[in-house]
Order: sequence, then C-alpha cells, then structure tokens
Amino acid sequence: MPRHKRGALNAEVVRGHLLGWYAANQRDLPWRRSRDPYFIWVSEIMLQQTRVAVVIDRFEAFVRQFPSVTALARATEQEVLALWSGLGYYRRARMLHQAAKFVATHRHGRLPQTAEELRELPGIGPYTAAAIASIAHGESEAVVDGNVERVLCRLEGWDEAGGKGAMEQRRKIQELAGQLLDPDRPGDFNQAMMELGATVCLPRNPQCLVCPLAKACKTRGEHKTLPRSPMQTKAVGHALTARPVSDDALADGEVLLEQRPAATSVMPGMWQLPVLREAEVPAGELRMMVRHSIMQITYTVRVRAVAAKDVAALAVKGGKRRWVRLEDLESIPLTGLTRKVLIRAGLMGGGSPTAV
Ligand code: ADE
Repeated sequence: MPRHKRGALNAEVVRGHLLGWYAANQRDLPWRRSRDPYFIWVSEIMLQQTRVAVVIDRFEAFVRQFPSVTALARATEQEVLALWSGLGYYRRARMLHQAAKFVATHRHGRLPQTAEELRELPGIGPYTAAAIASIAHGESEAVVDGNVERVLCRLEGWDEAGGKGAMEQRRKIQELAGQLLDPDRPGDFNQAMMELGATVCLPRNPQCLVCPLAKACKTRGEHKTLPRSPMQTKAVGHALTARPVSDDALADGEVLLEQRPAATSVMPGMWQLPVLREAEVPAGELRMMVRHSIMQITYTVRVRAVAAKDVAALAVKGGKRRWVRLEDLESIPLTGLTRKVLIRAGLMGGGSPTAV
C-alpha cells in the first residue's frame, strides 16, 4: 500500500474525530460505569495481558467480594488469588493486594490522586498511574499501552523499531501521545485511544474503512513490525482423581489437588491437578485434551482419570496433596489450567465465582 506522507498531525482534528467516534462506539464495560479510582485501578491491572472478555466476569466478582481498598486489604492472599484464578500473571494480584494494605495502613484507605504519587505504590507503573489519574481525576497524563503504540506508529507512518532504536521510538511515542492528549477530557481521550487500538486499529487486518483517524493516518493498513519469537509447544499430563463423599453422586464430591511449592517462581502456592510423570502416561482413561498458553508457551495437556491408589506411583512428587470438596473449589487459588479442566469436566461452575 502506498504511503501518503503528509504534514504534522493536527491535535484538534485528531481529538474531535476520536472523541466523537468513542462517544458512539465505546463498549459498555463494567468499570466504565464508575469513576471510583479503586475500580479503575483493579480493572487496569486485570486488563494487562488479559483479554477484555475474560476480565469482565472476573472484575465484577472481584469488586463484589472486595468493594473497597480496605476490604481488599483485609483479605488473605489466598482469597485474593482465588478470585484471580484464570486471569494469569498472579504476581499482579499479589502486588495489588500489597498496595491495598499499604494504602489502608498509611493513607486511611484513600488512593493518591496524582500519577506521580500513584507510581510509588507497588505494582503501579507509568501506564497504570496515568490511567487512574486521567480517568478518575482528569489529570493530563497520556496512557501508552501496546494498542496505543500501534495506533500512534501507524498515524505517523513509523515502522516498529528494534535494538537501540526501540528506546528512542518509545520516547517519541510517549511524547506524541502527550501532544495529542485532550487536556479537557484526558480520561476519555486515553480510553478512546486504547479502544481504537483494541477494536479497529488491529495488529492484523486493521479496519481502516471505519477508522475515525483514517484521513490523518500516514500508514492505512498494517505497519512493519519485528518478527515475534514463535510460541514454544510442550506436552504435559495431569491426573483427574475425584470421589463422591456421601453418596454416589459426584456433585457432592471431592477432587485431589496439590499445592505448588511456595518457593517456585511460577504460580507459587497455587493449587493444581497432580502432574503425571510423562505426558504420554498410558495408565488411566483419557478424559480430555486441553490447550493452554502461559506466556510464550502453548501446552497440550492430556488429562487422565487416575484412581486415587495410583496417583503416588504415576505423578511427579509435587507439593502437598489434599482432597478438596467441590463446593470449596471457588475459594481456593486454582491455576488457570486447573480451573479450565474442572469446569470442562463439570466439577465446577463456569461463571463468576461465588463469594468465598
Ligand atoms: N485497555 C486497558 N484499559 C483500557 C481502557 N480503560 N479502555 C479501553 N481499553 C483498555
């Protein structure tokens, strides 16, 4: 596609078109119904690395259970992680919890109002601080996430820079975001940029025909990006071992889970199905195959029904094992994969977790 090189972007024109488009096209998302900085904080942390569709359900359950900073501060880490199950990147939940405890103890439960002070809290970087300060308090701080970066690069006709050029490009993008930001409506402007990147200016097949900024855009279409490292694939096996408690009906039963060691770097302390020694362990009926991605790795997971007496022989000597009542599953921090398997096996409800 030919590039149409034109002059500098006109900030007024960009603001007008973008905000008009946003008013008509924004998605109805639960955190947009409030200006409560705590709700915005929780939603922005959840939205990092996780799709909006997944976040919607989990956000509502989370703020129902912990409606304020002080409620979150009073919770145990296990309760917080249980409600985070399935969102991944559990360190974000731990930092959110730590920051809530700090705010409850040292600031009477009130979050700081400026981006500068917000950045001092654990887990709040420039992106989250700018989002909270602009959306909740109208501070003129530009938010730049991956979606916004893509929109701005295309607007300016910049290809993705790598190596030494990457830092300089990031600085230029942040500067441009600050110049375009609407000082009268910074929260709406920031959300509109993110929304445009998430729904129109897509990485592949951008929807330029419906883009409010197409006329000003120097790229119109995909811009050149650096090759991504390919996803690795790995095969693993898990043991599904369940038993009824009072009668034959599994509805009132228990499932055997193990806790990941506290010292492990990935998902410490969370609960999972016992891991079979080899992905292809022949013993046990194959109950399901599941694909599950964690960061750059896609796992092909074979889940086998294994009798309780065989688990010790077939499974890796993992963390401590425990029979967990099905009715208690919502209240313990399950790994995302375990949650997915238990839902598919009909042992756990698939909707929002109920109160702990
Ligand atoms: N992605 C992350 N935060 C967002 C927001 N507030 N609006 C749209 N997309 C987002």
